[in-house]
Order: sequence, then C-alpha cells, then structure tokens
Amino acid sequence: MTYGQDPLKKAFVKSYGCQMNAYDAGRMADLLAAEGYAATDAVEEADVVVLNTCHIREKAADKVFSEVGRLRVLKAERAERGQDTRIVVAGCVAQAEGREILARTPAVDVVVGPQSYHRLPELLAESHRRRVVDTEFPIEDKFSRLPARRTRGVTGFLTIQEGCDKFCAFCVVPYTRGAEVSRSVAAIRSEAEALVAGGVREITLIGQNVNAYHGEGTNGATATLAELMRALTDLPGLLRLRYMTSHPNDMGGDLIAAHGDNPLVMPYLHLPVQSGSTRVLQAMNRKHTADDYRRIIARVRDVRPDIALSSDFIVGFPGETDAEFEETMRLVSDLTFASAFSFKYSPRPGTPAAERTDAVPESVMSERLSRLQTLLDAQRHAFNAATVGSIVEVLVEKAGRHPGQVAGKTPHLLMVQFEAPVSTIGTLQRVRIVRCGSNSLFGALETDAAAAA
Ligand code: 5AD
Ligand code: SF4
Repeated sequence: MTYGQDPLKKAFVKSYGCQMNAYDAGRMADLLAAEGYAATDAVEEADVVVLNTCHIREKAADKVFSEVGRLRVLKAERAERGQDTRIVVAGCVAQAEGREILARTPAVDVVVGPQSYHRLPELLAESHRRRVVDTEFPIEDKFSRLPARRTRGVTGFLTIQEGCDKFCAFCVVPYTRGAEVSRSVAAIRSEAEALVAGGVREITLIGQNVNAYHGEGTNGATATLAELMRALTDLPGLLRLRYMTSHPNDMGGDLIAAHGDNPLVMPYLHLPVQSGSTRVLQAMNRKHTADDYRRIIARVRDVRPDIALSSDFIVGFPGETDAEFEETMRLVSDLTFASAFSFKYSPRPGTPAAERTDAVPESVMSERLSRLQTLLDAQRHAFNAATVGSIVEVLVEKAGRHPGQVAGKTPHLLMVQFEAPVSTIGTLQRVRIVRCGSNSLFGALETDAAAAA
C-alpha cells in the first residue's frame, strides 16, 4: 500500500513511423531511465510523456496534434491532483515544425529534434523555467553522449548511419534528419557487443540510407556496409544480421556478394523503388531507371535465389499518367515481392514536388493504390503459402499466442508460432511449416526423431 504520491517517477514514450524512430525512442527511454524514470505503458500515470513523431506523410504528421490534444486534458486532470506532467514532442515533426508546435499547443513543454535528444534531461530541467525548443544539428556526437543501452529482447536495432543527401523530390528526410553521417566501425561494434551481452541474437543495422554507409574502419580507411557486417560476424552469440533502408544506387557489388558469402546476413532485402516508370523516377529525382532496378534485383537473385524482396511504392506522384502507373504494376508482376509498403503521394511542405501544380486527383490515387495493394497482397500470400511443408530456421523471440507456444521469425522475416518450451527463446530452432495464416505461419518443432521418421 502506498501513501500520498508514488515517489517513483514514470515516463511514457510513444514512437511513430520508421525503425529509426523506434530506435531513438528506445534511447530516450534509456536516457530517462538513467534519470530515475521507470518506463510505463499507462500514459495517465506518466510524469514525462514523449511523442517521437513522424513527418514523412501528412497523415503521420497530423497525428501529433490530435495526440497532444488528448494529452492536454490529461495534463490538466493530473495538475488538479497536484501532479506535474512534462510533455515532450520529439522526432521529425519537432524538427520541421518546432516553433509552430509551441505556438499551437500550449501544453507542450519541450520540443526536441532527432539530432539533439541526448540533451533531453537538461531540456526537461530547463522546461520548469521556460518552454524550450532544441532543433539544432549539433557538432557533438549524439551517440557518445547517450547512456549504455538497456537491451530488451532477442532482436535489436542499431543505428549505423543517419540522414540523407539524395533529395528525392517528394521526401522530407534530408531536411528533418540532415546530411548523411556514418558512425565508426568501432563505435558500432561496441554497441553491438552491449546488445549481444544483453541477450540480443539478431541485429538490424538501420539508417535512412543504410547502404550508403561509409564509416571509419578500424584500420583508419573507410568501411562499406559489407565490410562493417563482416567486422560484426565474429561477435560470439550474434546469430543474424539485417539492414534497412537501402537506395538502389548504393547497392554495391560487395553488398550484393555479402548475401552469398556472409552467413549472418539474412536473405531479405528491403529496396524501395517507388515507381516502375523511368519518367516518374526521373521526376522524383531518384537518379536511376526502372531497368537499373531490375538489373540490381537480377544480380541479387543470382547470388541468393531465395531472397525475400521488399519495397516501397508511391502512387500518384504529380504528373503520373495511367500508362506510367501500369509500368509500376508490370514491374511488380515481373519481380514479385514478398512484402511491400505502398502509399499515396502526400505533398510535404518544403520539398520540390510540393510546388508542382499537376496533382493526380485523389480518386485516381485511391484506385491506383487499391489495385497495387491487391497485387502486392496476393504476392505476399503466395510467398507465405509457398513455405508450407518446408523446414526453416526460426530465431525464437518470445512466448507465443497460446500457452506452450513460442514465436519467432524465419530468415525471410516471417513470424512463426509453434509449440516449444520458453527456454528456446534466444535460440535457433528447426521448424516444419504446417499452415499459413493471414499474419503468421504455424509450425511444428522438427526434433531429431521427427527428422529421421
Ligand atoms: N508521399 C508518399 N510517400 C512518401 N514516402 C516518402 N515521402 C513520401 C511522400 N511525400 C514513402 C516512400 C519512402 C517511404 C519511407 O515513405 O515510399 O520510401
Ligand atoms: Fe527520402 Fe529519397 Fe533519402 Fe529515401 S533516399 S530518405 S526517399 S530523400
């Protein structure tokens, strides 16, 4: 039983958008933990609420203002009970619209961008005197100012590269995340060691343009992503490596080869193409053609025929004609994707494409998106269904949906549920796939006896 106010401070951190944001949110939780805040999933009991926001499309950005509206009510209710609540808006909306957030939403105490969140404790302290905005791109290395990682779980993200110099005509990332910067191999290795020591068995190396990685190697020379992954393969206990998100123009020969010669690199490639029309790709400033993309995929499949291919698509980029959209449909039919994300074009303030006056009508965009998604869904289903009957290696991540079950992922990133003791969590198990559901596969542990039968 407790009397009066719970002395333990609590923090609620919510992340929107990409894996990089999820990583940053985890690091902010680590920072707050070092300041004595326990993590909570119950926002109403939080003394600090952090919203790590996404600016990539209009819908994502709009969520911030509706969420802050709900938090304002909560903050007022807690204030009536004598409890203080600090509201922090972090992430890419913070970066892009910092001052506007303060002006529009009086309940917000701190606005902090993705490159300055290591200063969160100072900013929180300062917020008791005045509301603060920090959207600098500081010179100091954010990562070296963060506390050691507290790992949770069998899989973990690790940021190796941030920012983007590509300036695709539709995209806010180069403005919100800034120029491309790669961390050194030594810094990444030491974070990877901490992850593995904490029980992580699969690391996903992340970056806005992860395959443009060019960090300082241990010998002083610049290392590529393939070289970095090679430098991580001997970490005892590390079983798998993945990376995302990549750009076609940075798909170097050694990276393609890594899918064949580095046993830790999983047979999965997320390589956004955006459109199957070279004219649209040019208008998007992607700097490659549809045929370039097809050639890259052919080379990857030469090395790793079973690779699961994933991509991002935008329909209704300004000026996209019916015939150009059909080229996207044809590319998808020809290449077949195991999974994909597809979006209607959303004009973003400050990007070159937002200036264009040849918008595709909303109804046309909706129809195109629905046709594309129907095709991509059918391909995803076919890919999943084709696994039935095969034996796959599953990295067990957690307890399953039902008692006695565990769940984990295949090399192709498909979730499988099967019966096994929880002591298998963190290990690789051979599993026979017996059934394919809409979001999961169901399997049976392949014991030696079953294998011999
Ligand atoms: N409109 C629609 N989709 C976008 N993306 C990025 N910017 C926009 C935009 N303005 C999509 C791209 C990118 C993914 C992360 O989000 O497909 O690869
Ligand atoms: Fe955005 Fe293009 Fe950079 Fe990807 S490569 S983050 S889509 S500008």
